[in-house]
Amino acid sequence: MKILVTGGAGFIGSNVVDAYINAGHEVLIADNLSSGKPENINPKAKFYRIDIRSEEIRRLIASSMPDVINHHAAQISVPASVGDPIFDAGVNIIGLLYILEAARNAGVKKVIFVSSGGTIYGDADKLPTPETYPARPVSPYAIGKYTGENYLRFYGKQYGLDYTVLRYANIYGPRQVPYAEAGVAAIFMDRLLSKKPCRLNRYPEEPRGMVRDYCYIGDVARANILALTKGTNEILNIGTGIGTYTIDLFNAIFESLKRNFPELPDELKAPQMMPARPGDMKMGCIDSRKAEKTLGWRPEVDLKTGIELTVKWRLAVNGKKATKGENR
Ligand SMILES: NC(=O)c1ccc[n+]([C@@H]2O[C@H](COP(=O)([O-])OP(=O)(O)OC[C@H]3O[C@@H](n4cnc5c(N)ncnc54)[C@H](O)[C@@H]3O)[C@@H](O)[C@H]2O)c1
Repeated sequence: MKILVTGGAGFIGSNVVDAYINAGHEVLIADNLSSGKPENINPKAKFYRIDIRSEEIRRLIASSMPDVINHHAAQISVPASVGDPIFDAGVNIIGLLYILEAARNAGVKKVIFVSSGGTIYGDADKLPTPETYPARPVSPYAIGKYTGENYLRFYGKQYGLDYTVLRYANIYGPRQVPYAEAGVAAIFMDRLLSKKPCRLNRYPEEPRGMVRDYCYIGDVARANILALTKGTNEILNIGTGIGTYTIDLFNAIFESLKRNFPELPDELKAPQMMPARPGDMKMGCIDSRKAEKTLGWRPEVDLKTGIELTVKWRLAVNGKKATKGENR
């Protein structure tokens, strides 16, 4: 298949590109490199430095006529969406419309759209939360993702453009960048490797921190492969269904780092306790049994293994950087 991946230089998008290329697909990437990195770009993909809010994306889709568009490009920060909802909507809603308009005119068969199972349900009282639970987005970011889902439904009905919506949990793994709230695993790793103490935000009644559903990137890439041919016109949660307290995530990272990087100071084992930030959801965890039925997908990498894989990747990257520095 010929597949256009938007955001294919970013953390998740680049891992999806690698999986598509390994599966033998022809891949094009459209990314403006606002947070994506050139080193993430698979050399076997054709790369276009393009903003999705531009005529160039329309021209690229019209001339390349991909079978599937996998849309990962986005403004990804919840606080940034609160600070500048107009910018957020420009990228996450208007940008999507550029793609959908071009897709229907170019005869694209399917769009895979990435939404947010971590934010779309708000503070749900049913955990793990299934797709049937009402969406209660409480930030411009989540409102934008939910709006995107509704546009896909519209394009599906009106123009017969097939879609699959993947509502991700908190994704972690190699290439994750240490910013934005979803990047907590990368933030902890970064601070510990710089021998700086970590901060753990929590509400007074729950000293262990927030509960989140952490899903490994390799599992997510596999869901994107399956969604090429399955899950048509479905909205699917992609997560583990397991809620993990921030302190347990921190401990898993600390232990894995200590095993692989013994010079890590023991006094960093106790994170600094900080108050919750405004709007911090207490608990989030999503039910992915529908993805199991529809795609035949289930997560295979448990948190301990996923953290170990990520730590090893991170140390290897640091090692390469150090070697380059020595050679200079
Ligand atoms: N990381 C998570 O846990 C998580 C959870 C739920 C949903 N998501 C969604 O997954 C997708 C990928 O997120 P990520 O964590 O890999 O973030 P990321 O920042 O690494 O990737 C986003 C990519 O989009 C590109 N981009 C941004 N604006 C663009 C524009 N206007 N034109 C072209 N390219 C643009 C960036 O350069 C970057 O490469 C996003 O849609 C995000 O909302 C992520």
